[in-house]
Amino acid sequence: MRDLYYESTIHKQIREKREDRKERIRQDMEKYGSEVLESDEMKQAFEQTHHKLATVGEHTLRVTMSSVMVCYALRKLNIKVNIPAVVIGALCHDLGMLGRNEKYASFKESNSGHPKESVEIARELVDELPEKAEDIIERHMWPLGDSKAPNSIEGVIVSAADKYNAVKDIVKGSEIESKEIESKETEDTEGER
Ligand SMILES: [Fe+2]
Ligand SMILES: [Fe+2]
Repeated sequence: MRDLYYESTIHKQIREKREDRKERIRQDMEKYGSEVLESDEMKQAFEQTHHKLATVGEHTLRVTMSSVMVCYALRKLNIKVNIPAVVIGALCHDLGMLGRNEKYASFKESNSGHPKESVEIARELVDELPEKAEDIIERHMWPLGDSKAPNSIEGVIVSAADKYNAVKDIVKGSEIESKEIESKETEDTEGER
């Protein structure tokens, strides 16, 4: 039988490491992305639904956290990554989605139009927007729509983190929706009894 004390110590260490990493990510986000985080656009982002039951703001923070986490892992492998560009790129990648229903006539149109719009917003929010961040934002939708493929390792990171988090949100949203339907059906059946 395993030593329970040993096991709980390991779990505690893992939990503490995870918390430390989250704190480091938060610090990096504030250090490099404060202009975006404090903007009115970011406030608005938390009011617009995205990927079923999430908001643009929640999705944006998740994509940024995942992207920076991948950067830390790559740095451990001595792979150079530009964290400021990743933070700015990830924080701005979907801001062009704000007001989607008024701006775009279809899903297809918003898919192809919002990256360029996000670049415009990023230029307004960030003093001296790095060219790499611009490319990250403009190409993040690849391989969807008519987007060009990312042209940097940072672009690949944000584009992959975007897909990963979008799918997670959509699946979770569908599960919640089907649970709500199930419980409504149960209520209705019980009501009929
Ligand atoms: Fe997007
Ligand atoms: Fe996104």
